[in-house]
Amino acid sequence: SGGIITIDPGYKNTGSCESAITFLDGEKGILRYRGYSIEELAEKADFLEVAYLLIFGELPTKAQLDKFNNDIKEQSEVDEDMKKILDGFPKTAHPMGVLSSLTSALIAFNPSSVDVSSEEAMYKAIVKIMAKFPVLAAWTMRKIKGLPLDYGDDSLGYVENFHKMMLSKPNKGYEANQIVYDALDKLLILHADHEQNCSTSTVRIVGSSHAGLFASLSAGISALWGPLHGGANQAVIEMLEAIKADGGDTAKYIAKAKDKNDPFRLMGFGHRVYKNFDPRAKIIKTAAEEVLGDLGIEDPVLDIAKGLADVALNDEYFVSRKLYPNVDFYSGIIYRALGIPTEMFTVMFAVGRLPGWIAQWREMRLRKEPIGRPRQIYIGENHRDFKPIDQR
Ligand code: SDX
Repeated sequence: SGGIITIDPGYKNTGSCESAITFLDGEKGILRYRGYSIEELAEKADFLEVAYLLIFGELPTKAQLDKFNNDIKEQSEVDEDMKKILDGFPKTAHPMGVLSSLTSALIAFNPSSVDVSSEEAMYKAIVKIMAKFPVLAAWTMRKIKGLPLDYGDDSLGYVENFHKMMLSKPNKGYEANQIVYDALDKLLILHADHEQNCSTSTVRIVGSSHAGLFASLSAGISALWGPLHGGANQAVIEMLEAIKADGGDTAKYIAKAKDKNDPFRLMGFGHRVYKNFDPRAKIIKTAAEEVLGDLGIEDPVLDIAKGLADVALNDEYFVSRKLYPNVDFYSGIIYRALGIPTEMFTVMFAVGRLPGWIAQWREMRLRKEPIGRPRQIYIGENHRDFKPIDQR
């Protein structure tokens, strides 16, 4: 259009869309899904109910939730040939790379999921991925642990079934634990959506080309994998373990985080939007203390995390840059208590974020948003003539 182009690296001051799904107030530390506060939803709702709220805009009636749940159970099988793709990975493959690949591969086994020209077709694709994603996520864990695949048990709830598919032990059965289920349910709710973060923006822009829902989600998983984004929850535990191995020397790591010449960052600290506190981090910190207490687990890294936070929250470097614990700072401590290995933490984030990605993709398609195609300011060479190779 020849208009003025302004560059906004990282889109720090650029809005990409209008949305009615999630509201954030970074100054006041407010997070609401469709107008409901995260504090209330984390306490009073369950994950599938919140998924329904995010995707369709209203808290479901009992009949609506039962139908959603049953429609999902109907679709919980994954084609046996998908195992051949999983088998192709080495045990050392990172679960996020496996999950992104399996999500994209799922298209081949569900070709109808690409056509979302009607709301009915869209609903079918949404229910399919809501059903199959936890299976694929659990399979990524079975792969790295060398365990046989567990196909789940439809008599269990959504979150219970997901936990069982991940952690059931062949020949040793599986021990249900309501404390574990409640903690997992709360964590998934707290991760369910967060307006236009990096991975959600990725899902939207891939979906804006009318690539299907599963292809858009596969791209979102890859974006979430990065240590500056969802991958931070794994990086936090690795950092805390390093500090523990270093005799709990938090001062050394605070100094490294402040040293401009040291690429080390205090993982789990800072946020693009929250400039006072991340309300999710507050809830997760309390939940971590409760869950470890209820399960009778002493995890020294929780004390190291709290010690690190106390020092950083009183240090001018962090206070002046408004760097506070974010959603990733304490979550790994709970995942660990639930028996989930560190390399699976970002997969847990993806399972939680799935309904948010779906909701944002659906809103983008229903609002018929144009294909995402930003401009640039060219800073390369002016015109020059071709030179034959013997003259270069
Ligand atoms: C998530 O967007 C979302 O909503 C994401 C998320 C979601 O739910 O989808 O909330 C989930 O991704 C949470 C964030 C997880 N990432 C981490 O914990 C990684 C560590 N944090 C940072 O890399 C950083 O804080 C970001 C990526 C979270 C935010 O980066 P910004 O907004 O681009 O800020 P910046 O990199 O420009 O930093 C501003 C200043 C810089 O110092 P100066 O150049 O001004 O001197 O603060 C410093 C940075 O060096 N800084 C840090 C720091 N984070 C920022 N210094 C040390 N440790 C850190 N963690």
